[in-house]
Amino acid sequence: MDQLSRREFIQTAFALGATAAMAGVSGKPSTTTWHERRDLFPEGVASAEPTFDSVLLWTRYPAGIATSVATQPHATAAGQADPTAANQATAHGGGAAGSTAGVPTGTSQTTAAANDAATQPRRASSRGAGGSTSATLTVEVATDPAFRNVVATSTANVTAASDWTCRVLVGGLQPSHEYWYRFTDEHGNGSRVGRTLTAPAEADTRPVRFAFVSCQNANQGAQHAYRRMIFEDEKAAPAERLGFVLHLGDFIYELVWYPEDRPQGMYDRRLRDIVRYEHGEKISDFHIPTTLDDYRAVYRAYLHDPDLQDARARWPFINMWDNHEFSWLGWQGMQDFQGKTRPAQTRKVAANQAWFEYQPARVTQPGAGTLERFNPPEVHDAPIVKFDDDGFGQEANNVAAVDSLRGYRSVRWGRNVDLIITDQHSYRSHEPTTRAEAGALDDKDFPDLLPEEVMQSLDAGRESNGGQPPSFIEFGTTRVANFCRNDPPQTILGRKQKAWFLERLRTSQATWKIWGNTEGTLDTRTDPQNLPMGLTKSWPGAGYAVFGGGGDHSTAYLERAEIYDFVRKHDITGFATVAGDRHSFWAGLAAKALPPQPFEPVGIVFVTGSISAPGLVEALEHKFPADHPLRALYVSDSPAKARVVNMLLKHGVRSCLDYHRSKDMAQARKLSNPQLAPHLSFIDMGGHGYATVRATSQSFETEFVCIPRPVERIERPDGGPLLYRVAHRAQLWAKDGHPRLEQTVLEGHPEFSL
Ligand SMILES: [Fe+2]
Repeated sequence: MDQLSRREFIQTAFALGATAAMAGVSGKPSTTTWHERRDLFPEGVASAEPTFDSVLLWTRYPAGIATSVATQPHATAAGQADPTAANQATAHGGGAAGSTAGVPTGTSQTTAAANDAATQPRRASSRGAGGSTSATLTVEVATDPAFRNVVATSTANVTAASDWTCRVLVGGLQPSHEYWYRFTDEHGNGSRVGRTLTAPAEADTRPVRFAFVSCQNANQGAQHAYRRMIFEDEKAAPAERLGFVLHLGDFIYELVWYPEDRPQGMYDRRLRDIVRYEHGEKISDFHIPTTLDDYRAVYRAYLHDPDLQDARARWPFINMWDNHEFSWLGWQGMQDFQGKTRPAQTRKVAANQAWFEYQPARVTQPGAGTLERFNPPEVHDAPIVKFDDDGFGQEANNVAAVDSLRGYRSVRWGRNVDLIITDQHSYRSHEPTTRAEAGALDDKDFPDLLPEEVMQSLDAGRESNGGQPPSFIEFGTTRVANFCRNDPPQTILGRKQKAWFLERLRTSQATWKIWGNTEGTLDTRTDPQNLPMGLTKSWPGAGYAVFGGGGDHSTAYLERAEIYDFVRKHDITGFATVAGDRHSFWAGLAAKALPPQPFEPVGIVFVTGSISAPGLVEALEHKFPADHPLRALYVSDSPAKARVVNMLLKHGVRSCLDYHRSKDMAQARKLSNPQLAPHLSFIDMGGHGYATVRATSQSFETEFVCIPRPVERIERPDGGPLLYRVAHRAQLWAKDGHPRLEQTVLEGHPEFSL
């Protein structure tokens, strides 16, 4: 690397808040004394966002905070050791925390480690009485797990100011290479060894494999989907192993239920006592973080999960936040709770800072001037009363909070993949159906259903009905003042991000332009207009119903149409979307409209099930009224708890009612409404697990790997059984052609999903 590029590299590291380290051309054996002490690095290690020649490395070393998490096992509702605490206690011996990817785990013992922690001289914490506020670690990167060929050695500062986390950007690496890395303190106490991979060179045409995941809830479930992912990757031929894991958000859930506040648990789940917010706010029966320390605490709690921690040590992650990294119904710098919007700029900044500290990523902090730490703008929670033409709050604290971290970015992975990641929450306008006024649109006779034309009108705001928005929203006996009639059309991306996104799509040279959209884009609708007379009152809508209200790009109709029209107009092929958020598996085609409008797909779309967070099927099983006249559409009681709602969304009401009578799946599908969901190949509103992608110069293949409901951790090395494995494949289509999906069920029987 010449002087100029070296300087650029260091500037890049600076912008990312990272220390810079350069790999040498040839390596040499490590001279560092290293003995593994996972208890001193309780959140493990991580690598992130490789390019063909560099990667970010991360760890947390809470120097001086002698109160190791290991000494404070969490009690649980069931009275068992919680997996989050167990990880601490099984630093080397436990199956989960043992060997990963052939990585040596050292020979030290948990008990010895714990004793050492108590007897060794330790640095004082900034939280202690006037002690040190930083420590220095040695970082090593090697081409072998035994560190006989170390190609980069550097130092990294951890400071109390960044909650003892650090990021190191290592450059000068070889493309498509496997590396190992570790952190060591001045006493030779070392982190676990992590494995990482660099991206292929830009011209490399070899197939790209990666996994995409979302929605892990450590308060309510177990994360052994990652164990299955590790197991399968270790078995795979080297060329077929995953290059990275794309995490599409809800890495944490900021809403936490303390077990005593909800002794009955949540649906099928017991509540784990994973975190207590020092400054938390209780709303209803759950708690939310209010300060930076609260947000940091929930990340730490999640990273104590052994399966997640092993996954972060095995693959580079590419992370993007969804809503729960900040706030459940958060938008811009605001929160919505109990039907009210309230300013939350200080919390948005705190959420951004904690994300920056705990999620290594190539995200930049505009105007940041401080190496190795987040530079939070000073904001206060101020009401937002003025909005611009994109529904963005023109209030200085809102602008500053949102601008404190820019998450949208693109990542190149060889010739075949350009991953274009967008932020669905920081710039979005207020989602119409989460507004308090929308409560009046609920109709208990038709649970979760809203006439499609009503949703379209709310989305379009003042542009609905050709710029003549109705004064009232009316259907059946419902008559509500049109609360969106003066608002601009809904935007999720916001003007600036959307312009950036479209330009990235247009100029991408990769075979597959993959939209990493944390939220789904596929329409969710059904056909209550086809219900037989007499079952319930007649459907008050003009036609189809949107299921579950709005919230994502499936009901941001105008913005979605703008994007898809752009794709068509610019002859963009290989447009693929991967998403999370919905806690369900979906495979389908990207189209701006469905019948009776023309159906013209421009791309392919996949949504992954949650790693562990409960989904709609589980909620319906627990909450849907037993005596509701439409129960057969939502929950099938025989066979017990079948996922009939999948059939409702893919085939329609006639199929559901026929299945209720006949229990004959094939017979019921004969009554499918072909106009309802021509965009859907697969849907499972009860699926958990992960998805993988294999992108080649000719095709795009995904696999949905679905596990049973992850109520309790399965400690088997294979991560437990599968419910099913389903593949979808699309050939690259020509500029004047249309995308198509082929489906193959590889394992199991996802009957209601087909
Ligand atoms: Fe989620």
